[in-house]
Amino acid sequence: MYDFRIDPAADKATHWDDLLSAVRAVVAGERDAVANMANVAALAWEMLPGLNWAGFYRVVDGELVLGPFQGRPACIRIALGAGVCGAAAASGEVQCVADVHAFPGHIACDAASASELVAPIVAKGRVIAVLDLDSPSRARFDEEDVAGARRLAALLADAIA
Ligand code: SME
Repeated sequence: MYDFRIDPAADKATHWDDLLSAVRAVVAGERDAVANMANVAALAWEMLPGLNWAGFYRVVDGELVLGPFQGRPACIRIALGAGVCGAAAASGEVQCVADVHAFPGHIACDAASASELVAPIVAKGRVIAVLDLDSPSRARFDEEDVAGARRLAALLADAIA
């Protein structure tokens, strides 16, 4: 049984450190990409406060296709370059959006979402997926979250390739 917890009173850096440690433990020695994405979505959901969606879109035949996630049912296919996820996949850059309603082309899967953080996952020089975190709070994500999401994305390149 896995039983990872965070201390809600701990700071953000500690939450990310704890999440990264849990992810390392859960994906160690496991090569199945779906299993690893599913567990990482569950861990992010449980260990990062204030989210209303946490999960993955995979690059499949030149578009993004919904992967394992926690939260409300979401759009299944997103064109590269479209919305926040498509921008992250097309540019290879983390997208940290304080107000999704101000982001041109934002795709509203859940009307409650107000801010969003999307990190591309790169393996062998290609974006293979994106990690998408949504929050109902405006400006939920900051530079510390960007750094944490980059570390998580780097860790996952092997685990989901
Ligand atoms: N809002 C995203 C779409 C995915 S959902 O948030 C789960 C976007 O604009 O790419």
